[in-house]
Amino acid sequence: MAVVLVNGLVCKDPKLVQANDFFFSGLHLAGNTSNVVGSKVTPVTVAQLPGLNTLGISMVRIDYAPWGINPPHTHPRATEILTVLEGSLQVGFVTSNLENHLITKVLQKGDVFVFPVNLIHFQRNVGYGNAVAIAALSSQNPGVITIANAVFGSKPAIPSDLLAKAFQVDENIIVRMQSKF
Ligand SMILES: *[C@@H]1O[C@H](CO)[C@@H](O)[C@H](O)[C@H]1NC(C)=O
Repeated sequence: MAVVLVNGLVCKDPKLVQANDFFFSGLHLAGNTSNVVGSKVTPVTVAQLPGLNTLGISMVRIDYAPWGINPPHTHPRATEILTVLEGSLQVGFVTSNLENHLITKVLQKGDVFVFPVNLIHFQRNVGYGNAVAIAALSSQNPGVITIANAVFGSKPAIPSDLLAKAFQVDENIIVRMQSKF
């Protein structure tokens, strides 16, 4: 039988579909936040849960060490709605040109916040202990563009003199930033 691909992924013969195609286990486990940003995203997208394909939805667990951040990033294909399970999070997103308005708020356990599709957003643990959030995204394959990694960590690198002009700083500052990503 021919293999049918939808969005580049296998669309299984309905007769062969099993419960496990719609199942993922593990969001009770804390992610390892021992890294430079102090946070860890555990994704449950179509890559982890094949049955999500074409359904336009996915989920993540995010763990934060004290003062850990989920650095500024965007999801090119999804709006994100987030709730805090433990701790306190400062969240924010920035609107587009010309306003570039920062919309930010401190969330407590049980609070819910939405990050509109494509806008640059972030979270930071502002409590004393660890923080945990669960977010849902309006795509099975939301994609993620982490701003610093894309701008300063591209392979090959964006010319440093170009970035120096774009960011209005000395080129040696750009070279230093590029060496971090
Ligand atoms: C967490 O990650 C750090 C850094 O990679 C590693 O040294 C440590 O063993 C990990 N801890 C656990 C519990 O996996």
